[in-house]
Amino acid sequence: MSLETSTNAENAIRHFLIGNRTMLEHKERYWSRFARTYDEDQEYVVGRAILKAITKRLSEERDLGDVIEFGCGTGYFTKEIAKKARHVIATDLSDEMLEMARIQLEEFRNITLQKADCEDTSFPSGRFDTVFMANLIHVLINPTKTLQESHQILKNGGLLLIVDFTGYSMNWFEKIKLGIRYLRKWGLPLCYARNNLSPDELACLVENVDFKVEEVQIMGDKTKALYLKGRKN
Ligand SMILES: C[S@@+](CC[C@H](N)C(=O)[O-])C[C@H]1O[C@@H](n2cnc3c(N)ncnc32)[C@H](O)[C@@H]1O
Repeated sequence: MSLETSTNAENAIRHFLIGNRTMLEHKERYWSRFARTYDEDQEYVVGRAILKAITKRLSEERDLGDVIEFGCGTGYFTKEIAKKARHVIATDLSDEMLEMARIQLEEFRNITLQKADCEDTSFPSGRFDTVFMANLIHVLINPTKTLQESHQILKNGGLLLIVDFTGYSMNWFEKIKLGIRYLRKWGLPLCYARNNLSPDELACLVENVDFKVEEVQIMGDKTKALYLKGRKN
């Protein structure tokens, strides 16, 4: 390889890495802004009823084993998962979110907090019994990358557990009210957010990366969430 070619290649790699790093820093800054009041804001935006329903549904899960959680935020649902797991590694890309989680999850001895990008983790293949993510899929630019990562780090037969808020099947009046509450707390949503994912669309995303969908349901009354369980084939 000539000197010029090698310099061009090195530059391309450098630009690619810097581009990725800047993007990651940008995402981290975006989410960190919300950390301090995230739980109360979320309660205001989506309402207590759906949060309670999700927590109850999660409490019915059994034997989750060694769990990795992506995008744990302040650890709102991590508590419930930890009660059913041997150990949870709860990850997020925002230090501020992780700091709030650290305070909230202090009493749990089986939770470890770790900074990680869900699209590109350094966990070994086949390491976990369960991958859990709540309200993450719809805010990712490329959810397939995270689902592929989940597949890679799960044991064979491992469980993929996804909870995700959705506007799908919501009454239009409730949708407008939700939109106003959202704007008041968090401003305009991310331009690439998938705010109306249907159960079929979520199942399709998951099946495309070789999971078998065991269950997908829509929960909630005024505001809604998807609940999906998949198995690594
Ligand atoms: C909508 S919040 C949900 C937080 C929490 N799971 C919940 O349901 O309360 C999305 C979270 O995902 C995190 N996040 C976004 N993109 C991420 C990425 N690429 N890797 C890891 N975490 C990410 C954000 O920092 C934020 O804490």
